Formats: sequence, C-alpha cells, structure tokens
Amino acid sequence: MSRAFIDSSSVAQAYDNWTNDALLERLWGEHIHLGFYGDPPRRRDFRAAKHDFVHELVRWSALVQLPPGSTVLDVGCGIGGSARILAAHYGLDVLGISISPAQIARAQALTTAELAPRCRFAVMDALDLQLADQSFDAVWSVEACPHMADKQRYADELLRVLKPGGRLAVADWNRRDASVTPMTRLERWVMRQLLDNWAHPEFASIESLQANLQLSPYAAGMVIETGDWSRATLPAWVDSILEGARRPAAVLGLGPRGLLLGLREIPTILLMHWAFATGLMRFGVFRGQKPA
Ligand SMILES: C[S@@+](CC[C@H](N)C(=O)[O-])C[C@H]1O[C@@H](n2cnc3c(N)ncnc32)[C@H](O)[C@@H]1O
Repeated sequence: MSRAFIDSSSVAQAYDNWTNDALLERLWGEHIHLGFYGDPPRRRDFRAAKHDFVHELVRWSALVQLPPGSTVLDVGCGIGGSARILAAHYGLDVLGISISPAQIARAQALTTAELAPRCRFAVMDALDLQLADQSFDAVWSVEACPHMADKQRYADELLRVLKPGGRLAVADWNRRDASVTPMTRLERWVMRQLLDNWAHPEFASIESLQANLQLSPYAAGMVIETGDWSRATLPAWVDSILEGARRPAAVLGLGPRGLLLGLREIPTILLMHWAFATGLMRFGVFRGQKPA
C-alpha cells in the first residue's frame, strides 16, 4: 500500500498501521524519534540515545526551568515516550496529541495509573487544535512537522496555545534551502523517496520554519533560535536498522510478515542516512520564549 501523503487521514492511517503491526515499538521502544549521540557522536545504546535526546532537548530549550506542575502540550506525541519522560522525570503536566487513534490508544495503555493524571492523550489534528489560546506553559513537538501540509498553520497553532512567558521546543527534519543550493537530479530523486515513502507532503528548511514561527501573528515578538543536530543524531539511522539484528526476536516474533515489514523500511532509512550525511537534509531544533 502506498504511503504517499494525500491528506492528514493518510498520515493517521500510516501511523495506525505502524502502531498496530507493533514492529517499530518492538524494535525501537516507545520513542519514534532519533537518538542524541553528542557532537562529535559517541557510541551509545540506541534506546539510551533516544532518552538522551529528550533530556537534551529539555535542557537546550530551557524547559528544565519550568516549575513542576507546569503544563506542556506535546504535538504529534507518537505513543507517548517523550510525554511520559516530561511527566515522570520533570514533574510536568502533559497533554500529548496525535492524528493517529491507534497511537493514542497505545500511549494510554503504556501510561501507568500513577502517571495518568499528569500525562494525558487525545486524538487531535495539529493544524486545528481544539485548545484555548494561551493555555500551555510550554509546547513541545518532535519530528511531526514533516507531515504538515501547511507549515505556517502548524507554527501558528503551536504559538497560539502558548501562554505569554511560555517556552517552545521543536525538533524537525529539514531540507537544505534549495533556493540557495539547488538540488541535483540525484538529490531530487532521493527527496521524492523521502517524501512519498513516509507520508510527508514537504519538508521545511531550518530557515523557513524559523520564519514561519517568528513571523506568526501569535509570536508576539518572540525570537526563535535554531540549532543543527544533524551530526549528533546521524548514527540513529544506521542504529534503526541494526536493532533488527540486535533484537531478531522482535522481528521474527511477528512471523514472515514482520520480516517483510522490516525490510520495507530499510531503503528509506538508508536514503535518510545518506541525505542527512550529505547535507541534503538537516536536523533542525528550534527554541524560544514568548514575551511575558
Ligand atoms: C515521527 S512521529 C514522532 C512521534 C513523537 N513525537 C516521538 O518523538 O516519539 C510523528 C508524529 O506526528 C503525528 N502527526 C502527524 N501529522 C499530524 C497532525 N496533522 N496532527 C497531529 N499529529 C500529527 C504522528 O501521528 C506521529 O505521532
């Protein structure tokens, strides 16, 4: 079945399938994002690197300064891996939202009864948040933007729900700015695969998403700072594949279908590695504090 982006329901369908077949969770755990290996990168267990990624983004974006009990919206929360760390480790009160009903059901199932009152989940479209203006102390969004057809609307919604004085933490897969360095024929072909295989309508560049955020009518004069974590996250691509060899039972336990599902993802993962290693893609991070 094709996973080319059609609309947000095609994204929901893709994540419902990834969640229901259980392969990604069995292989990669509760986090559907890259790991943080440091810069220069050092050898690290893949799952530990994913945890480090969350802690590093909390530190870099200064969410670590939020007092316990502060409210955080996690936009595109997957099956809740980051939300649970934010609630359990930092004492934050988190609402995670995803377009995928299967992910939200799984996120709720993985959250202990003890944590559940401070770590809630709901099906919601990031481009149409059913949430009041200025209602969260922080907004967190990791690797969700590649699925957004309207990047300006995504930026506007993140900032609309952020309180004055609130903090923003975003991580994104970004493309090189093609208006500065046009793509070669090979790069255009690779880019098409990266878009169509994983339900991505388009990637923003670091510069264009920074402008989307900073020029949003809801930014209220906010300054958005960016970083490039391409080197620090690059080993995660190859690790994503090697996990299959390290945990063969995770794949083989699902029978021949598990093997086929795993093999299907390998070409796109290798192309992602190539694109991030050569600079066609960049791993952008974005932070800012809304003026009080
Ligand atoms: C690569 S996953 C990242 C998941 C999670 N942030 C993590 O790091 O584990 C992308 C997430 O964005 C969500 N997503 C994509 N489009 C969305 C939309 N329009 N509204 C809400 N969530 C969306 C997907 O359902 C998925 O949970």
